[in-house]
Amino acid sequence: MRKPVMAGNWKMNCDNEEACKLACAVVAGMGDPGAAEVVLGVPATALTTVVGCTEKSPVGVAAQNMFWEESGAYTGEISAKMILSTGAQWVIIGHSERRGRFGKLEAGWTDAHVAYFGDSDVTVNAKTKKAIASGLKPIVCCGELLSERQAGKADAVVSAQVKAMLDGISAADAAKMVIAYEPVWAIGTGEVCDADEADRICGIVRQTVAEVVGQDVADGMRVLYGGSVKADNVEGLMAKPNIDGGLVGGASLKAEGFIPLIKAAAASVA
Ligand code: PGA
Repeated sequence: MRKPVMAGNWKMNCDNEEACKLACAVVAGMGDPGAAEVVLGVPATALTTVVGCTEKSPVGVAAQNMFWEESGAYTGEISAKMILSTGAQWVIIGHSERRGRFGKLEAGWTDAHVAYFGDSDVTVNAKTKKAIASGLKPIVCCGELLSERQAGKADAVVSAQVKAMLDGISAADAAKMVIAYEPVWAIGTGEVCDADEADRICGIVRQTVAEVVGQDVADGMRVLYGGSVKADNVEGLMAKPNIDGGLVGGASLKAEGFIPLIKAAAASVA
């Protein structure tokens, strides 16, 4: 039995005061998550604050990115060690908004490859290795663009991303990872991927993990779905055999949006 994970991704939202209010409201309202793990992915500036607010709760705290070097002349970056020093234990790596696979132009959604931060399969792999070596638990993201889905390439794109993130990682280390499947076209758009299709692709993620590091690791791997997860679709997603939780953006920004998702994850293993 895999422990489900319900992870919020606050993105670039919440100053310290707002972060404290939101984390406290989640802790106060979530009840007992049972066997489910709850993680809040917060801005780097709020890590220490949120660790403090969640101290006496089962909520884990994640950074949203990290750099793969230990320290040095990398202006603006933060290291795994710095994240750990705040008390956070998790890190989100390779989100599509960082991979430069996210196009958001003035006129609305397009598939234009607006490279905000330039993460690639290679840097995602480097960050994942460093996170694991440092003792951080990585949630590593993959997912296809709308144009790739329309061209019938979703399976191949996701499988290639999973192979790349696992490159050079031992089975023992891969077992410390969580993988999030987030179709780029479903992120922040309100357009959730059909639960059967999300389950099918999460199955491809698992099968790829099995091919690269073995069936045992694949069987234990938590594979999350992300992309417009909210109260009215979470149960259908959580009921699927290959979906072990969610990585949630918009609906994690209000306690009343995120708490039902935590409860659904808890109920899925109750
Ligand atoms: P969303 O974001 O839930 O707002 O679609 C998900 C994510 O980007 O992790």
